[in-house]
Amino acid sequence: MRLSYYFTITLLLFIVSCNQQKTPTDPIEQRVEALLSKMTLEEKIGQTALRGTSSRVKGALPEEMKEAVRKGHVGAFLNIMNTDYVDELQQIAVTESPNKIPLIFGRDVIHGFKTIFPIPLATAATWDPKQAENTGRISAIEGTSSGINWTFAPMLDIARDSRWGRVAESPGEDPYLGSLMGEAYIKGFQGDNLTDKTSMVACAKHFIGYGAAVGGRDYNTAIISDPLLYNVYLPPFQAAIDANVQTFMSSFNELNGVPASGDKKIMTDLLRNKMGFDGFVVSDWNSITEMIPHGYAADEKHAAELASNAGVDMEMTSQSYEHHIKTLIKEGKLEEKQLDFLVKNILRVKIRMGLFENPHRDKKHDGHLYSEKHLSLAKDAAAKSMVLLKNENTVLPLKKSQKVALIGPLADAPLDQMGTWCFDGEKEHSQTPYMAMKEKVYGYEAGLKYSRDKSTSQFKKAIQLAKKSDVIVFVGGEEAILSGEAHSRAEINLPGAQEELIHELSKLGKPIVLVIMAGRPITIGNIKDEVEGILMAWHGGTMAGPALNDILYGNIAPEGRLPITWPKSSGQLPYYYNHKNTGRPAKAEKFVQMYDIPVGAWQSSLGNESHYLDVGYLPEYPFGYGLSYTQFAYSNIKISKKEIVENETIEVSALIKNTGKVEATETVQLYIQDVIGSLTRPVRELKDYEKVFLKAGEAKRVTFTIHTNQLKFYNRDLKQVLEKGDFNVWIAPSAAEGLKESFILK
Ligand code: NOJ
Repeated sequence: MRLSYYFTITLLLFIVSCNQQKTPTDPIEQRVEALLSKMTLEEKIGQTALRGTSSRVKGALPEEMKEAVRKGHVGAFLNIMNTDYVDELQQIAVTESPNKIPLIFGRDVIHGFKTIFPIPLATAATWDPKQAENTGRISAIEGTSSGINWTFAPMLDIARDSRWGRVAESPGEDPYLGSLMGEAYIKGFQGDNLTDKTSMVACAKHFIGYGAAVGGRDYNTAIISDPLLYNVYLPPFQAAIDANVQTFMSSFNELNGVPASGDKKIMTDLLRNKMGFDGFVVSDWNSITEMIPHGYAADEKHAAELASNAGVDMEMTSQSYEHHIKTLIKEGKLEEKQLDFLVKNILRVKIRMGLFENPHRDKKHDGHLYSEKHLSLAKDAAAKSMVLLKNENTVLPLKKSQKVALIGPLADAPLDQMGTWCFDGEKEHSQTPYMAMKEKVYGYEAGLKYSRDKSTSQFKKAIQLAKKSDVIVFVGGEEAILSGEAHSRAEINLPGAQEELIHELSKLGKPIVLVIMAGRPITIGNIKDEVEGILMAWHGGTMAGPALNDILYGNIAPEGRLPITWPKSSGQLPYYYNHKNTGRPAKAEKFVQMYDIPVGAWQSSLGNESHYLDVGYLPEYPFGYGLSYTQFAYSNIKISKKEIVENETIEVSALIKNTGKVEATETVQLYIQDVIGSLTRPVRELKDYEKVFLKAGEAKRVTFTIHTNQLKFYNRDLKQVLEKGDFNVWIAPSAAEGLKESFILK
């Protein structure tokens, strides 16, 4: 299955597709052409307009909105969160507008509509695409009941810098894992059939490079070499196209000097001609007119000229197309043929959605909001996303006989556990850790009112409770508002007085379990030695509490694995496992710690290696890492042959044994390194993985089949090449460990 996925990617990226040449006999294309031929210029421009409000229309439906629809001046809306308005606007569109073209209704339904699932980064931590698919499916089932038939998800930006607030919405740092997750979300959102009334058209965003913002500062400049773009940033987007995603969103950022929303090379040459996308591209919020402050467009008219010629089909919120396209055509700066091209892309998707036959939402579909099934799937996803980072003296699982003091600002924070992008989730439905464990724990004291709280006034009560307990569970982290769009942080430690409270609690000499609820990895250098257990629970959504209860009390063994490197310090960022070796790779033997350097030492080049004098060169926890309540032993790696030639496969396997006392799931990872390349290659790259369930004492041989296509990469000329030579391969529990073998490609 994964191999076939790989072949598709390879083929699509390698072959320059002729996607724009739609066959005239295709019935959908015929309908598109027929419709287009009847449209006036105004109506064509109207199709490119995505109108809306910031998060929902308040008060009465504005008359001018209705009038705009009546005249055919709008193609789609966002954030119309009132079903009567949706119905009314659609009715006007299909009965009163010139060509009766239905509207699309969009919204950011990112990781749940009412029932909130874990944030996408947490979902990636499950390493289980089914969880992403469930999230997408339930979001679509619930969201379509409000008339939303287009979601601005999934976000597929590779994120290598956890200072960036939107790592929370990303699939993490790995292109392979990110591709699987993206594909699964799309399958879930769009369902089996785009015309189904519970299907929501998905949007692969943000094209492209948004996650590479310098310094992790949102909206900032991205500088990505072409081979890096092709090898790391594009694969999840190609996988989205292969999964039939219907829309793309152009990103806010400039990439190598050109804002993506005005870059023809990106939007047309690459996305359409090379990658084969045939749906429509929507700009991000005002990203077309933001080309003015970028210093790329002189004014609104110039911005419209650049974006329309680049191939951005629909404009979100700003109105440069509406204001200027007519003049641009008159002045010969935009050919009407190009406008037609944009409009056809939009109409094609509307036809595929079945909107012309059946424009209205299904009024009988109530969305099954917060149904038992939805809540149970959300709970499952939250539990499977949790990553056990430390478990000294097997402090976890907790025993029912222990007196547990539940402490911390996020133990009962119904809004915050839902995480970023929760327009519609209601905190009243959140089941918090405190609610879920009320009956079991000895007592609960928040100690701090919220994550940024700096006041120590509640410490005393928390400490008093802790004194009477056997074990302390501290649920801290970040409020939801500290990650997500425009919520980048320079320091990514526990905010407020959380560290101080943990210091105080640690003086009691009781074991402490730190549960982190956050939208990103949190640096823990100051406290990690004071706590026995660390569990990353992310922002787990509506059911985070019951899921945490299941994990903490051992009903389920944790099986989440990090989809992103966990740094020791934000100063290490960007940090990612698939980095290059450099000419002076860092090694433990040569590392010199800053405090070990003698005072007045001669200005030698200490160690002569690529490392930091203070934090070294290793992360706190590597990509792929995560503990369980059992232990897994890896042994006896075998390789089927030592030499292969192009188009052959090779098998590599290892014996994985559950050596502990409880049954659990291990995520066995396959990494490959191309030792010498015409472009330097990463120290290792994830190529496959398998989740294996093992009973206590059970052992299984896990076998991976590697095809030579998996060894290809894009070279300096952007040709996908297979280069002969040595390859290393690891079967590993994380990106920093594993059993190693090697082979030669002849
Ligand atoms: C801006 C964000 O970057 C994008 O991801 C989102 O979909 C739009 N706003 C619409 O809310």
